[in-house]
Amino acid sequence: MTDRQLAELALDARKHAYVPYSNFKVGAALLCSDGTVFTGCNVENAAYGSTICAERTALVKAVSEGQRSFTAIAIAGSGDDFCWPCGSCRQMLFEFAPDLRVLAVRPDGQFQTTALTELLPHAFGPTALN
Ligand code: THU
Repeated sequence: MTDRQLAELALDARKHAYVPYSNFKVGAALLCSDGTVFTGCNVENAAYGSTICAERTALVKAVSEGQRSFTAIAIAGSGDDFCWPCGSCRQMLFEFAPDLRVLAVRPDGQFQTTALTELLPHAFGPTALN
């Protein structure tokens, strides 16, 4: 799975987004260490705070199928710019994958890559509870 392919899967995952309130579609593609990819989209709710982001949709799909180890995630929004994960998604991803690579994808297919630790420095994670 190349970065380009993962980015394309994130772009495609936007098609199932349920966004009657923001009209902002997001897709995510999460690459597991065994090569499996789980996709997700944002699913909004009339009680706005119950909305789930695309990244967390992909993550909970993967974890609920037995996956615990991830190497990369691609995220595609529908604005003109790169779509970086929100704070809640950064925290949820850090729980399982502190070494995760994050690809922020623009609708035109261009993407930027960084490390999750760059997006969430000095993160609070599982080791803090030991
Ligand atoms: N959204 C995501 O799916 N991922 C993010 O990282 C940022 C925000 C969604 C939530 C909501 O449905 C819409 O984008 C606008 O905030």
